[in-house]
Amino acid sequence: MSSIAILGAGAMGSGLANALVRAGWEVNLWGTWLDDHLIDAIEAGTPHPRIDTIISDKVKTFRSAELEQAMDGVEVVALSVASVGVPKVAEMAFDAISKAQALWLTTKGFMPDENGKIALLPAGLRRMAEAKGITLPPIVAIAGPVKANECAANEPTATIFGSRDLDVAVKYARAARSEHYAIEATDDEVGVEVCAPMKNVYAIMLGIADGLQEQTGHPHHNLKAATFAQAVREMSILSVALGAKEATAYGLPGVGDLEVTGLSGRNKVYGVRIGRGEGAQAALKTMAELEQTVEGVPAIPLAIDLVEQSATDVKERMPLLYAARQIVYEDDPDFTNILTRAVLPARP
Ligand SMILES: NC(=O)c1ccc[n+]([C@@H]2O[C@H](COP(=O)([O-])OP(=O)(O)OC[C@H]3O[C@@H](n4cnc5c(N)ncnc54)[C@H](O)[C@@H]3O)[C@@H](O)[C@H]2O)c1
Repeated sequence: MSSIAILGAGAMGSGLANALVRAGWEVNLWGTWLDDHLIDAIEAGTPHPRIDTIISDKVKTFRSAELEQAMDGVEVVALSVASVGVPKVAEMAFDAISKAQALWLTTKGFMPDENGKIALLPAGLRRMAEAKGITLPPIVAIAGPVKANECAANEPTATIFGSRDLDVAVKYARAARSEHYAIEATDDEVGVEVCAPMKNVYAIMLGIADGLQEQTGHPHHNLKAATFAQAVREMSILSVALGAKEATAYGLPGVGDLEVTGLSGRNKVYGVRIGRGEGAQAALKTMAELEQTVEGVPAIPLAIDLVEQSATDVKERMPLLYAARQIVYEDDPDFTNILTRAVLPARP
C-alpha cells in the first residue's frame, strides 16, 4: 500500500487526504502550528471548517510538534501549505523529504531568493535543499481545476501531475486516481508551475468584470470573456518563454484552473470588490480582516519580476499582467479603462 505524509491540514491538504484514502493510500495529515483547530475538527469527526466536509477517519492526524512521526517511513511527502509557509515548512521537513521517493506540491506560488531572483516553486525548493547539501527526490507538481471542497467530497475532479521525469508523473497519476479523481500526467513541470500562480492573478481580473456588473447593473460578460482569452494567451506566452509546452496553458493547469478560480474563491471575490468600486487597497484590507489571503496579490510583482528577469522578450505581450499591477498596487480608480485597454486587441 502506498503511503503519504501531507504537510498542511488546510483546505487542499485535507481534500487531497480524502481523495488518496479513496485510492487506497495510507495517509498521514500533519497540521502546522496554525492548524490545531482544523485537526480538532477532523479528529472530532465534524466537517473541516474550511471545506465543510468530513475528513475520512482513515486519515491519521498529527499536530505541529509531531512532524517527525508524521513523516516516518512514508513513500511520498506532499507540501500543501500556503506559499508564504513553504520556506519554513520545507526547511523543517527537508531531512525526511530526502528519504522519501517523491515530493508532491499542491502549493502554488513563486519563490524569490535573497537577491530577489524569482524561481518557480520546484526550482526554488531544489536550490534551498542544495544549499543545505540535501538532494530532493523527484518533484511532482500538482495543478488543475480542483476546488478542495469538491475534491474532498468525491465530486468529479480532473487534475494533472507534472514531473520532469514522465515515468514518475505517470506512476503516481495511476496510483492516486480513483473513480471520481482523474489524473493526467505530463513532463511539463515548468508549464504546470507557471500556470498555477498566474491564474490567481488573472482570476482577480475576471472578478473585476463581475464586480462591474454589480456596480453598473449591466452585464460585462464580453469584457470578462476577453479577459479570459487574454489571460490564457499570457499564461501560454510566459510558459513557452520559460521553456514549457504551449499546450499546458490550454489544458487543465491553465484554462481549466482559470475557469474554476474565476467562478469562486478568494482571488475572484477580491476582484469583484474592486469592480464594485470598493478601492483595491481598501478591498484588500477587508479581505485581510475576514482572514482571506488573496494569493494572487503577492504573485503580481513576483510574476513581473520573473518576466523582467527571465522572459524580457515577452513583456510587451503581457498587458493584462501589467494592468493587474496598476489596478491593485497603484489603486488606480480608472480600473475599467485599464482593464479594457489590456484585453481588447489593438486596431489591426
Ligand atoms: N483550496 C483549493 O481548492 C486549492 C486547490 C489547489 C491548490 N491549492 C493550493 O494549496 C495551497 C494551500 O491552500 P489551501 O486552500 O489549503 O489554504 P488554507 O488557507 O486552507 O491552508 C493553508 C495551509 O498553509 C499553512 N500556512 C498558512 N500560512 C502559513 C505560514 N505563514 N507558515 C506556515 N504554514 C502556513 C496553514 O497552516 C495551512 O496548513 C495554496 O498554495 C493553494 O493555492 C488550493
